[in-house]
Amino acid sequence: SERESLYLVSEFANTYFQKILFKTDQGKSIGLSYFKERGFTQETIEKFNLGYSLDEWQAFTDEALKKGYNIEFLEKTGLTIVKDNKRFDRFKGRVMFPIKSMSGRVLGFGGRILTNDKKAAKYVNSPESDIYHKSNVLYGIYYAKQSIAKEDNCYLVEGYTDVIQLHQTGLTNVVSSSGTALTSEQIRLINRLTKNITVLFDGDAAGMRASLRGIDLILEQGMNVKVCTFPEGEDPDSFARKNTLEELTIYLDENAKDFIQFKASVLFEESKNDPIKKADTVRDIVNSIAKIPDQIKREIYIQECSRIMDISESVLFSTLAQINKKEL
Ligand code: CTP
Ligand code: MN
Ligand code: MN
Ligand code: MN
Ligand code: MN
Repeated sequence: SERESLYLVSEFANTYFQKILFKTDQGKSIGLSYFKERGFTQETIEKFNLGYSLDEWQAFTDEALKKGYNIEFLEKTGLTIVKDNKRFDRFKGRVMFPIKSMSGRVLGFGGRILTNDKKAAKYVNSPESDIYHKSNVLYGIYYAKQSIAKEDNCYLVEGYTDVIQLHQTGLTNVVSSSGTALTSEQIRLINRLTKNITVLFDGDAAGMRASLRGIDLILEQGMNVKVCTFPEGEDPDSFARKNTLEELTIYLDENAKDFIQFKASVLFEESKNDPIKKADTVRDIVNSIAKIPDQIKREIYIQECSRIMDISESVLFSTLAQINKKEL
């Protein structure tokens, strides 16, 4: 079938990019040394099938055609870009991160530039195809699924390198939404394995916004969500590089907040004396509580909100009732 052809060419590309990384001078001197400088061990690089795409216009495409892969499928997976009858390797000169399904099939790739050229996109990703639907995929799920079930918790990070570095440090129940805003489909994938998500987004304004957006999506599915933020400028990758597994675990345990504490702290902490801000924060928290399907949990969170924000439970319950009425 057509889908099977897309899987096969993606699998070929995965093997090819690894071979280039480990067996060619350019791969070793540029790609492999890049990964080593980021602190990835040989074992980690092999485990995640990291690779390198030569800095040539169509080295990969030529090789794939020579091996008998059809240009139609190279184009449909986006591995080759066809323009004015010319063919280009999409991932020219990038280090490669294959993106796998829950069962380990290669669906697509992320490719990172090695320079700090601010004009070029840092990451280029495979386009949507019949086998790759960004919004239904979590980077790392294949490697994390057992440990998510065993730990009964899933850490959710932003990037490829966060997943990889945390794995290497010894935290293996971690996946990434990689390059898309978190979606309900992605959360549903986690929901099959555990009801508990701890969001570990980057310590910057974008990471903060993304965490706030993710909360309601998670609550809606009846799941429990905590958020742990990192010091300004750090992400899980950079933080894990500087700390041992024990230090990392202690940091996560001490800094993971449930969603109410998290919202109260980001939305309200800096403006404690501003009654309007406080009202907005309370409304925002009650809006999130309204997403929770379970009535008992809703009640418990209303009590917590009342305690933290110092507002009577009865006012919170009637606010909740108004929200529910509006939604109907
Ligand atoms: N991303 C993307 N395209 C970009 C930038 C980011 O698809 N131009 C996705 C990638 O999956 C990336 C994630 O968003 O891993 C998080 O972005 P960012 O924090 O900027 O990158 P890092 O993962 O921290 O990558 P690095 O450490 O290599 O800079
Ligand atoms: Mn499809
Ligand atoms: Mn970021
Ligand atoms: Mn980051
Ligand atoms: Mn990073």
